[in-house]
Amino acid sequence: MTEQVPFTDVYVDDDIVERATEVLETRRYVKGPRVEALEEQFADTCDTEYAVGVSSGTAALYLAMKAAGIGEGDTVLVPGHTFFATVSPVVELGADPVFVDVDPETYTIDETDVARKAAAHDDAAAVAPVHLYGQPAAMGPISTVAERYDLKVFEDSCQAHGATYRGDPVGSFGDAGCFSFYPSKNMTVAGDGGMLVTDDADLARTARELRNHGRDEDGNHVRLGLNHRMDEVSAAVGLEQLSHLADWNAERAAAAERYRERLADVDQVTLPTERDHATHVYHLFVVQVPEREALRAYLDERGIDTGIHYDPPVHQTQAMREHLGEVPTLPETDRLCDRILSLPMHPRITDEEIDRVAEAIRGFYE
Ligand SMILES: Cc1ncc(COP(=O)(O)O)c(C=O)c1O
Repeated sequence: MTEQVPFTDVYVDDDIVERATEVLETRRYVKGPRVEALEEQFADTCDTEYAVGVSSGTAALYLAMKAAGIGEGDTVLVPGHTFFATVSPVVELGADPVFVDVDPETYTIDETDVARKAAAHDDAAAVAPVHLYGQPAAMGPISTVAERYDLKVFEDSCQAHGATYRGDPVGSFGDAGCFSFYPSKNMTVAGDGGMLVTDDADLARTARELRNHGRDEDGNHVRLGLNHRMDEVSAAVGLEQLSHLADWNAERAAAAERYRERLADVDQVTLPTERDHATHVYHLFVVQVPEREALRAYLDERGIDTGIHYDPPVHQTQAMREHLGEVPTLPETDRLCDRILSLPMHPRITDEEIDRVAEAIRGFYE
């Protein structure tokens, strides 16, 4: 029997189990020192003043936007080519998402389309670039457009822990950077969790209050808020995972390099590109292929797991169609969604597994 090539793998070895067990024994499960330690270390990693540990990447985006005052009457520019959660917080806050196309080479938001749509919408208040698949968005040009149109910038960094653009970490460019620690991510808390990073003291304080029933440091309910806290077991796992992040990202990059070598002469496959002066951390290794569904079934029969990120794109999902009433056209995004295929990618994928995937793809097209 051939062994499965799994799409991803979660590292939960003895060191992680020990950290989690230690917390269980302390009987202190929320609002404890480990969340604070993870916040401190994560802020260092992102080169930001503040980090706020929260219950998910979605919560980080929601709280960042809410704390920055996004709400009814505001328009937020978002890519269609992303996970649903880049956009759902905008809608939950009563603001209007306006969908922007992506650059087909890098899969990240197209700054020219951002400028076009910012010019067309007087109420444009913010833009949410996504560092999709681990590739940093073009934060230089995007920041220039944001300044010109007075847009707040919320970096959806949920897939890009440790990625850099011109030497600076993602999450450090915008008004806030938002990370997810969902199990498939480059680092996880082995459950749901997230982090909001920012240099803005007011935004950080407001987000802290909003995540904890609107309570200030003295415990007074100074604003309306729900519970979006991170717990201590999660933070303990996160601390251990963070200590491995740089090594794991290097292993992902090495795996990407091997895929490139092995697939270089398969003409049907379009390989991912890397933006100049940026570090791609390969949360996902996404190729473009013809006959995608048939290839996917062929790989599945050979024990190779794959994924699709994302089809349909957010603006074409049922929920968003119903919300918007009219579905916008995004030529590049709409073309990409039929062709993208995510190949197995994680730090512990072996050379043999990568070679098997590449050979199977070659076999399909021959
Ligand atoms: C691009 C993007 N944005 C937002 C999220 C939401 O993160 P979470 O699942 O932790 O809520 C994710 C992860 O699932 C994501 O990949």
